[in-house]
Amino acid sequence: MTAAQAPASGLLERLPTYPIQRLTALMADVPPAPGLAPIFFSVGEPRHAPPAAVAEAMGQCAPGSLGAYPSVVGSPALREAISGWLGRRFAPATVDPGCEVQVVNGTREGLFSLTRTVLDSSGPDAYVVYPNPGYAIYEGATVLNGVKSWAYDSTTTSRHGEVFLSVPEHVWARTALLFVCSPDNPMGGVQQLQAWRTVFELSDRHGFTVVVDECYSEIYTGEEPPLGALQAAAMLGRNFDRLVVLSSLSKRSNVPGLRSGFMAGDRAILAKAARLRAYNGGGMNQVVDAASVAAWNDETHVHASREKYREKYRFVIPLMQRSLDIPTPDAGFFLWADVSRTGLSDEEFTKQLFMQQSVLVMPGSYLSSAFSPEPIRQRVRIALVANLEECREGARRLQAFVESLESAQQLNGTTA
Ligand SMILES: Cc1ncc(COP(=O)(O)O)c(C=O)c1O
Repeated sequence: MTAAQAPASGLLERLPTYPIQRLTALMADVPPAPGLAPIFFSVGEPRHAPPAAVAEAMGQCAPGSLGAYPSVVGSPALREAISGWLGRRFAPATVDPGCEVQVVNGTREGLFSLTRTVLDSSGPDAYVVYPNPGYAIYEGATVLNGVKSWAYDSTTTSRHGEVFLSVPEHVWARTALLFVCSPDNPMGGVQQLQAWRTVFELSDRHGFTVVVDECYSEIYTGEEPPLGALQAAAMLGRNFDRLVVLSSLSKRSNVPGLRSGFMAGDRAILAKAARLRAYNGGGMNQVVDAASVAAWNDETHVHASREKYREKYRFVIPLMQRSLDIPTPDAGFFLWADVSRTGLSDEEFTKQLFMQQSVLVMPGSYLSSAFSPEPIRQRVRIALVANLEECREGARRLQAFVESLESAQQLNGTTA
């Protein structure tokens, strides 16, 4: 857990380098193993087929639809489709499409705009509290708004909200915004009702806004779909004051390039966000808007894609668990693997695995807070985005790599 004060100027200089750019720099001179086609487990970019309905809807758009500027909040048809989906998926929550839903160009853009919106009246002593490790945008948006950050340790179990009790009272007292990711990246944990009760009580006591990133909510293995924050609020008899949830079609419908998502919840915050987004060009292209209506209204492709992830949970995770200590996630497509038994740092592990087996993973330290006094050095993140056969092959190569390291250790008479 860390606190950091960003300076009043030169904020871009304090912005940590984005994880994918760090990985590209790390691997710049590292060749793959000769004769082995590379397998990429490094980036969370879904690779299952996108739904046919998306391409069809795009094909049906008259070219004339690009002759008008898009609405900042999204077309009424798209907001209806999203609020319909939210109502079906997260009952008993219901969301008013007129003022409680706003379309964004992907979760990332929404998170970024929303951070600016929520921090509008906060001074430099305000805190933003976010998970560590976690999605880089939470920290980047915090830094660029010139406020303080507190990164909570999300590797301890977050399911029941224990993690929030570790944040000191003096930080909560000055917190303007709390980011929660559920199902989270990279651990795959899902917050249960007790966790939401804790979060809402803290928000009520200290008056901060809770922004919840739920973009992995549709990839899960159990029978019960992950609980959502709006759903938890409704179950606890609350309204959506100081609560905004974001999600997108990127993971649900395998269209990360479409850049289509939404934010939903507190209507006053969304109205302020629309003021900001009218200036920063937040409106969604109308072809994308039409394709998104088709995607949110169709659940068949989501089932099919989820089944493919379930196969990977069944057949790939146990294979990978033979070589490394990997907790089975509740949801999402990431594995958070402990590489300490190999004696290598996360970066060294990543480089050697690629050189020997052409398998690319993400070093865990690239996902940890840049302000953390102890960056996470012995974890790597594995994204199970490729098809089943490729993931299996990747698991076999991982096992061969770890075994080769272990036999070398035995030969040298060393243990990690
Ligand atoms: C936790 C998390 N939130 C948000 C995003 C961005 O998703 P989108 O494509 O909706 O912008 C990602 C992408 O990998 C992510 O891992």
